[in-house]
Amino acid sequence: MFVLPKLPYKYGDLEPFLSKEQVKAHYKGHHAKYYKNLNAILDGKEVGMTLENFVRGLDKEADDIDLYHNAAQAWNHDFYWQCLSPRNQGWPREGLYKAIVQNFGTMNDFKYQFTTTAMKIFGSGWCWLVKDKVGTLLVLPTANADCPSHQEYIPLLTLDLWEHAYYCDYRWKKIEYIHNFFNHINWRFAEGCYQKVP
Ligand code: FE2
Repeated sequence: MFVLPKLPYKYGDLEPFLSKEQVKAHYKGHHAKYYKNLNAILDGKEVGMTLENFVRGLDKEADDIDLYHNAAQAWNHDFYWQCLSPRNQGWPREGLYKAIVQNFGTMNDFKYQFTTTAMKIFGSGWCWLVKDKVGTLLVLPTANADCPSHQEYIPLLTLDLWEHAYYCDYRWKKIEYIHNFFNHINWRFAEGCYQKVP
């Protein structure tokens, strides 16, 4: 059995970026459902590892596609909530700041690349900041439930671009959701992920 982690803040703590209603529907509705589906598919089978490692070990082509979709979406949302902060943390500190400047030019260049990549996602998906095996940072889109762990990247940051993530608050104004995200990034979490070794 995998257990839905608690949100790292209260439903209303991300307002006005995300309303209490939006966060509650996303967490209690969508995120919880992925866990419920995943556990139903596993049917009591003990996997003996973290969800992150379990997802990394799944093969989209060979494994049950419902298992893959629900496990990956459960983990993607675990990661997403940790990427958000009730308060504006500004920009990242020292190591990650330097790495972003080195790889993208300036923080605003990074913001521009992340925003344009996120806007180009057609249909449901995720936009990620990842680190590759040699430490290069990349902005990466994934479709549907896909996550970059399968491609041997270390995720540092993600934004959920399924419509269910923002539609209560933003309707068709996806660009505003992406723009406001930059005021609520949990850079302390991303900095911790940046320290991980591939
Ligand atoms: Fe979502």
